[in-house]
Amino acid sequence: MPDSAAHVPVMAETALELMRVRPDGVYVDATAGAGGHAHRIAACLETGRLIALDRDPEAVAMTTSRLAAYSCVSVIQANYSVLDTVLPDAGVHAVDGILFDLGVSSMQLDNESRGFSFQSDGPLDMRMDTTTVMDAAVWLTRATREQIVQVLREYGDVGPAGRIADRIVARRDQQRLQRTSDLAAAVEEALDFVSGTPVEVRTVFQAVRMAVNEELKHLEAGLRQAKEWLAPEGRIVAISFHSGEDRVVKNTFRAWTRPQLLLKPDGRVREKRAPEMKMVTRKPVLPTSEETMRNPRSKSAKMRAVERMRSIGAP
Ligand SMILES: C[S@@+](CC[C@H](N)C(=O)[O-])C[C@H]1O[C@@H](n2cnc3c(N)ncnc32)[C@H](O)[C@@H]1O
Repeated sequence: MPDSAAHVPVMAETALELMRVRPDGVYVDATAGAGGHAHRIAACLETGRLIALDRDPEAVAMTTSRLAAYSCVSVIQANYSVLDTVLPDAGVHAVDGILFDLGVSSMQLDNESRGFSFQSDGPLDMRMDTTTVMDAAVWLTRATREQIVQVLREYGDVGPAGRIADRIVARRDQQRLQRTSDLAAAVEEALDFVSGTPVEVRTVFQAVRMAVNEELKHLEAGLRQAKEWLAPEGRIVAISFHSGEDRVVKNTFRAWTRPQLLLKPDGRVREKRAPEMKMVTRKPVLPTSEETMRNPRSKSAKMRAVERMRSIGAP
């Protein structure tokens, strides 16, 4: 198993401060990974509980062994988009803080057999949940050229998406799209006027990964459910690494923290309800330059937090 020390938790201290972890609180780490944030939360608990989830069985195994000494921790293999099932099954009634540390972990990226990285050759896999069938090879085989173009544009902001999709389709028709090196080669062939490795290789891998794992769809569902489980004054803290992720977090938090306008059939306002949530971070919290030097993966991180108002009851 890869070394858990390889993944350095991003903005860990500030994340715990924003979650206001109390010794008797109930917390969810929705993305346990190597257990870096989870370990810090567990160390603050006395009578409280921590439910740590990850959809990746390897991450679950790692966090389970890392946190074995903490009886207050339950580590569960699950997608955070099914919090509504996982939390009642774990006997949880309401939660004081939920952390989403999005994207991939260093262990996933650094293990070439997982197929996440363009920097080493491996199978075209990219599944976070290795128990599912839809890996990158299957996704790229089934997707139409137009779907590939859309994913490259939406998730990778890839300019020459059409050229790259053409090469991907040509390679797959020739049965030459089995490995991560084949996908990287398709991008290089499409952009053969660029010397060296085009920057698009990284963004194409990121876009395909986001499509294979349906990351934004799960994020929307996960946030929606997380809100319903928050106790009064409970908080959601989300760390994103991609503009698409941050847009989902920002827009969701903004919508929750605005007064709700209930309309009459003719479109006039019938009732203005106070928002259920308040914004804790007006602007995203960014890592310090010291942290980005120490941990380059933290460079693109943005952290946002919201809090459930005291007057609104928990579910
Ligand atoms: C950046 S890592 C988390 C690292 C962790 N905070 C730590 O300190 O070690 C993100 C993790 O989220 C997991 N993940 C991504 N999407 C998920 C989802 N929808 N449900 C559950 N886990 C998810 C990934 O498998 C990965 O292990």
